[in-house]
Amino acid sequence: MPNPEQSQFLEACQASLKDGTFKRVVLSRKTSEAGGGKYRASFDLVVGGKKRFVDFSDTIVSEPQRSALDVDALLAQMEQAPIFPFQSAVLFTESHDFHYAENRKGHPRVYRAKASMKGVSQDHNRAKNYVLNAKRPYLKGLGVTSDKGEVIKKQYGKFRQIANFVEIIDRDIGDHVAGSDGPISMLDLGCGKGYLTFAAYDYLRSRAKTEPRATGIDIKKNVIDLCNSLSDRLGFDGLTFQNDRIEQDKPVDLDILIALHACDTATDDALALGLRSNMQFFFCAPCCQAQIAAQILAKGTDSGSDFDLISQFPLMRRREADVVTDVARALLLQSFGYAVKFLEFTPLEHTLKNVMLAGRRDDSVDRDKALAEYRQLKKAVGFEVHALEENTRDLRG
Ligand SMILES: C[S@@+](CC[C@H](N)C(=O)[O-])C[C@H]1O[C@@H](n2cnc3c(N)ncnc32)[C@H](O)[C@@H]1O
Repeated sequence: MPNPEQSQFLEACQASLKDGTFKRVVLSRKTSEAGGGKYRASFDLVVGGKKRFVDFSDTIVSEPQRSALDVDALLAQMEQAPIFPFQSAVLFTESHDFHYAENRKGHPRVYRAKASMKGVSQDHNRAKNYVLNAKRPYLKGLGVTSDKGEVIKKQYGKFRQIANFVEIIDRDIGDHVAGSDGPISMLDLGCGKGYLTFAAYDYLRSRAKTEPRATGIDIKKNVIDLCNSLSDRLGFDGLTFQNDRIEQDKPVDLDILIALHACDTATDDALALGLRSNMQFFFCAPCCQAQIAAQILAKGTDSGSDFDLISQFPLMRRREADVVTDVARALLLQSFGYAVKFLEFTPLEHTLKNVMLAGRRDDSVDRDKALAEYRQLKKAVGFEVHALEENTRDLRG
């Protein structure tokens, strides 16, 4: 039997299904009594012509299942195992999000939040791309799925990360990719084993009119060799990998820059290269922001800045450095004419490094205001050097 808060959650689902504002439900974190694990299930409303369907997918079954929308049947499906019991659930509607969450002691609460899917298209042709198909051959080549195209148990976290990433890029660049006549170009800097490079390329290939041109770059020769041989085996003609240092790469004509978890200032080297290449879109997940952390430490905790109140606590000082480094990046990117946003890339239980900074070139951004804000942040926190500022000084003219 659902507890009262779960019932409230189900009633909210029912109401939004009835009044047509329902968009999506995501259920996650099964309780330990129910087997625990990283189980996640989602129900997406899909509109195809005059008909409405629900796509159900979870981290166990590789293919999404579709059923005609029947409100009662859908609610019954949400209530039954293996979906219940869960510790976290979010209902997305056109007007608001509705959360169900249990704390560590298992006490539930429900609350409303701002609508994060307001205006998101539920057209059949778009929605089918939201879910990563586990049968894509590159996933098998990367060891994420088995010969049968099922996600290997130990690889659920990786699969989920890839699926989230594909979902993010689909939302942000799907229309651009589908509408572009020439080949889309992409660079993945610090690509590592190429999980997300293959995923992004495969996505671009499935949506673009012409073969994309994609390059993964990393200093590790062994991973580059492995990625190149997999790319050859898969017949991915437009995807190559190069053993190189980001900071030594030359600007290219670039649509999409990817730099995920490139260490410390390698993220800034990647963004600087993207700016020189006049990138149109970027997706970057920062990692180990040591440069600013060292400056905050050196400044001490009696500098007279209000930020001393934070930096007096070593753990919080580290967090402060992370936040300041990334906000400084965002302001600098705005100052070069990019609209930027922060989003959560992977669920927190997978990695603490789950913040993504994403953006697109946008002439309406107030560049002078952003640069003034960057300078204000520098002064307030008391740091002198930021790698992205240093690496792009000559671009300011
Ligand atoms: C944490 S891994 C992330 C891999 C991949 N982007 C992902 O998110 O799965 C960071 C990668 O960046 C590479 N890297 C770090 N500094 C680099 C540099 N200056 N030039 C090229 N690659 C670099 C490392 O070799 C490593 O493979």
